[in-house]
Amino acid sequence: MTLSILHHCTVHNLISAWKSYKKTMKGNFNHQLSESEIQSVMLLDLRRQYDAIKDEIADALKRVCDSGAFVLGPEVKLLEQNISAYTQVDYSIACASGSDAILLALMAAQVGPGDEVIVPSFTFFATASAVTRLGARPVFADIDPVSFNIDPADIRRKITNRTRAIIPVHLFGQMVDMIAINEIAQSGNIIVIEDAAQAIGAELKGRRSGCWGDMGAFSFYPTKNLGGAGDGGLVTTRDERLAKYLNLYHVHGMEPRYYHSVIGINSRLDSFQAAIINVKLRYLEGWTNMRIQNARRYNEMFIDAGLDNKIILPKTLEDRRHVWNQYTIRVRDGLRDKMKMRLSERKIGSEVYYPLGLHEQECFRYLGYAPESLVETYNASREVLSLPIFPELTENEQRLVVGAIREFVESLEARRVLPAAAAPTREAA
Ligand SMILES: Cc1ncc(COP(=O)(O)O)c(C=O)c1O
Repeated sequence: MTLSILHHCTVHNLISAWKSYKKTMKGNFNHQLSESEIQSVMLLDLRRQYDAIKDEIADALKRVCDSGAFVLGPEVKLLEQNISAYTQVDYSIACASGSDAILLALMAAQVGPGDEVIVPSFTFFATASAVTRLGARPVFADIDPVSFNIDPADIRRKITNRTRAIIPVHLFGQMVDMIAINEIAQSGNIIVIEDAAQAIGAELKGRRSGCWGDMGAFSFYPTKNLGGAGDGGLVTTRDERLAKYLNLYHVHGMEPRYYHSVIGINSRLDSFQAAIINVKLRYLEGWTNMRIQNARRYNEMFIDAGLDNKIILPKTLEDRRHVWNQYTIRVRDGLRDKMKMRLSERKIGSEVYYPLGLHEQECFRYLGYAPESLVETYNASREVLSLPIFPELTENEQRLVVGAIREFVESLEARRVLPAAAAPTREAA
């Protein structure tokens, strides 16, 4: 963490802010409750985070009101500097959402009609919709079944002389094999845009997401590891020329004022969001470590309960720092939806990210993909289930989640419905 991230806060202040955060958290919520006292477990409880830092947030919002700078302004500049330092890049350009960050990156890469952009099918809609918005064609690649991330071998098969860009998505908080992606891109003069919306702080070989490709797109949507109190996004790059385009395109292509050399969009981050994110960035490393600890604890609990061969647990690949935006298990034999229903009956939140690959979505039918043509995406969309993993989740809450899953599995075994799950094979974990 560099000094610019610390804002006007010294290292000492940062440590005491973190200590006070931990203390507030310990006094709150379900921390004091035993398993039997806990009524419900939310998929994500943002109030816990807010409760612990609300005074700092209030101060930050007041600063913005006092400054009178509500759009862009000093807080946004500071955020751009902070994220550049955090993600180890030279330039950051804040914008209105993660979706816009992808769109702006494609605009800066001059992607347009006649171009193809390779994207994973197993991702959030925004990764591909930005491509079509510019008149280009998304080409869907399949995933590696262990990491859920785009499969470089399938990218190789799908490259044509019209391929202008690849958008690897670091899904659920784990980085794609960017070494393989960059190798493919370099041999074809292809632009790489990392969709790092779910993966701020994730690392491959010690280097952070957003610094590997030509550009990186981030989201500050509230459910993300670094979320604001509304929409927000940002593009990172190490390329001065791309940074200039991004700075131009996100303010209507206007430079100087009221002179437009290119047709841009209005995608500005507001200062309230930036001020809140600047506060929260001080806590990001702590929160990330808590997510990592929660993931480790789930793994241990599932193994102790003998469930690791009944459901498929998520894996951290070699040389990665997984930041666990989601902890996603796989449930075989068409039992995923029943398990989700059982958790819901027990008032335990879970979610399916994503119930369909994009190649199966109605709006992309014109591209002509058969559902099982991307077989790993097809299977994952029918088997994945994400469980609560937010930083403040307590050990007893985790026990409750694991206990409900064990109870479900045991009820099936009693009826001989569930055989042991074979782990997916491609790419060693
Ligand atoms: C992988 C991925 N890409 C892009 C986005 C879009 O970000 P936003 O919601 O900020 O527009 C999201 C957020 O949901 C996402 O998860």
